[in-house]
Amino acid sequence: MEKEIKTIGVLTSGGDAPGMNAAIRGVVRTALAKGIKVKGIKKGYQGLLNEEIIDMERKSVSDIIQRGGTILGTARCSEFMTLEGQQQGAEVCRKHGIDGMVVIGGDGSYRGAQKLARLGINTVGVPGTIDLDIACSEYTIGFDTAVNTAMNAIDKVKDTSSSHERCSVIEVMGRNAGYIALWCGVANGAEDILIPEKYDYNEQTIINNIIENRKRGKTHHIIINAEGIGHSTSMARRIEAATGIETRATILGYMQRGGSPTCKDRYYASMMGAYAVDILLQGKSNRVVAFQKGEFVDYDIEEALNMHKDIDEYQYNTARIL
Ligand code: ADP
Ligand code: F6P
Repeated sequence: MEKEIKTIGVLTSGGDAPGMNAAIRGVVRTALAKGIKVKGIKKGYQGLLNEEIIDMERKSVSDIIQRGGTILGTARCSEFMTLEGQQQGAEVCRKHGIDGMVVIGGDGSYRGAQKLARLGINTVGVPGTIDLDIACSEYTIGFDTAVNTAMNAIDKVKDTSSSHERCSVIEVMGRNAGYIALWCGVANGAEDILIPEKYDYNEQTIINNIIENRKRGKTHHIIINAEGIGHSTSMARRIEAATGIETRATILGYMQRGGSPTCKDRYYASMMGAYAVDILLQGKSNRVVAFQKGEFVDYDIEEALNMHKDIDEYQYNTARIL
């Protein structure tokens, strides 16, 4: 018989993502409705080690679903990468009566959750990252808001780029993944989309494309460059030198992580937070919540970390045609 869960802890870890608050709210309210106590751990694993732990009531998560960032705060914690740190984390959980833990974050945070599970704390991960780079899930919290934020910003850059007949290299986030670049590239009608999964580092192709487009009378040339390729400023300099066309680089940066979450991020994050609690109460541990083929599902953390997903060939080829 599984140990009965009486208190669930919740933390957000790694880079923040719009919708994390909705997930926290989903955890807190689902657990309380089922008679389980909830403790919020501030600043990710760092806050766990520092025992920055607060009691969460229904009211603690009022009026947060529309807010960007995470009310619990987040951090990257090198101490938790060590066995001593992980043992201390598990000890802190036991001291505070936390027998189930929901970790909202990316791959790295899942690895931490796995370590806690191995040390006897029931854990469930929830995919919180704007990068969409969690292999087991077609959805990650924050991606939808981030691409909409980036898309709106790119529209604005495109306006000024057209007025000045310039070429623009616009860098979007995504760490080593090109999803944000691909989606914005299509949604903004970019002339070139550079993503780490596909880019062959042949700038001459881009240069030829710019010259060709200019001959055909195009007033702008938008290149969406993924963070995983980077070097947008030097790329812009080289393009200007080779084409003679004024070229500017814009790095969108952290604005993509902030702002009020979209309806989709609020909805999915709420469901995933609730789902995480439900599977903990079913006696599951060392799991991650995912969205696959229209439903919420869960995977073993090890299995999830070993999964691999690629940019869809059809979508990438279509993006190039468009
Ligand atoms: P993300 O969760 O967004 O991928 P990180 O990779 O920075 O972000 O991971 C967030 C935190 O998770 C790290 O700062 C660390 O505290 C913890 N973490 C990452 N990898 C491990 C690991 N292998 N073992 C234990 N904890 C880890
Ligand atoms: O994972 C989200 C993300 O914003 C990535 O797109 C980016 O590479 C990284 O986090 C930046 O991390 P930091 O906040 O540590 O600069």
